[in-house]
Amino acid sequence: DKGDFEYLMLKEIYEQPDVFERILKERLDDTFIHFPELKFGKEYLARVGRILIQACGTSLNAGMIGRMYLEQFAHISAETDYSSEWRYRNPLASGDSLVVGISQSGETADTLAGLREAKAKFMRVLSFLNNINSTMARESDAMISLMAGPEIGVASTKAFTAQVLNLLFFSLYVGSIKWLMPAEERRTVLDEIRALPDKMRTILKSHERIKEIAEFLKDKNDTIFLGRTYNYPSALEGALKLKEISYIHASGYAGGEFKHGPLALVSQNVPVVIIAPQGEIRTKMISNLKEAQSRGGKIISIITEGDEEIKRESDFYVEIPPCQESISPLLVAVPLQLLAYYTAIARGCDVDRPRNLAKSVTVE
Ligand code: M6R
Repeated sequence: DKGDFEYLMLKEIYEQPDVFERILKERLDDTFIHFPELKFGKEYLARVGRILIQACGTSLNAGMIGRMYLEQFAHISAETDYSSEWRYRNPLASGDSLVVGISQSGETADTLAGLREAKAKFMRVLSFLNNINSTMARESDAMISLMAGPEIGVASTKAFTAQVLNLLFFSLYVGSIKWLMPAEERRTVLDEIRALPDKMRTILKSHERIKEIAEFLKDKNDTIFLGRTYNYPSALEGALKLKEISYIHASGYAGGEFKHGPLALVSQNVPVVIIAPQGEIRTKMISNLKEAQSRGGKIISIITEGDEEIKRESDFYVEIPPCQESISPLLVAVPLQLLAYYTAIARGCDVDRPRNLAKSVTVE
């Protein structure tokens, strides 16, 4: 049921603040994080030394952000890979490794095969799943429920942000078992998380500005998305969303790789989306912006409210409310989803049923 929305995708984008409130209510009370459905005990989790995340598409992009959370908040070394690669490259098994699968549907063929590969090698498997009655739910050693509610639009939106949020909570949870974070720092991060639903609502109000950008983008054939560290996966996800539903070619790159090849693509007709919220890598993103601008590239930037310096340099910008850099992918996702959505609408595409794609990829 689309309710008042033209497409399910738009409805699902707008549901995100409520989904977050639901997850917060379930997972967080005062300063404690809860995973009632998680079958792994604390003793086991405290001993995990390495996490191998395998997933496909948007779920892998979420996993790449999760990897940084695991390293930062749980001090566990983590790696990510496409399930379709992981399953065929004879991955190394070691006693303290935990394999994490991430999937909205719980039915994706490659992710399921990766899970089976891990179990065949006597590794334990934890799956982050939106559909908790799925094959992956049955076959995993333990499961974490994403709690995004049913996602019907082919483009993953609320499942993505719910994946990232649950990975963040999981990393903080494991970190708390190992007493890794000073109380003050922990309180700050949890306060930042509690503020997310209202900040998302603020961003959703900027849809008119995003529609203007979509009008500009709709006649382009190519676009580039750049981000670094926490927002490198955001760049990948922004590009995936745009190509998936608007059929405009889009590629995401880590900002530091720009000069090593992709910069050659930039011209008047190839706009560059610069993801540059406040934080440590902001000045590096300004360098990327200037590299693109001096080659005639039009700049669309995603910035923290009031960043006059980047506004002046941009052809278009969207603002997000201030937040910690590590949390910013959860806010950056929203304007990128809306940008893909309105661009696809401006091109007359059926956003809920993009050509050639299926919601759940159950064959290899
Ligand atoms: O159900 P899954 O999360 O396992 O699906 C993985 C991908 O097929 C999926 O995320 C796909 O990339 C989305 N349609 C992108 O929006």
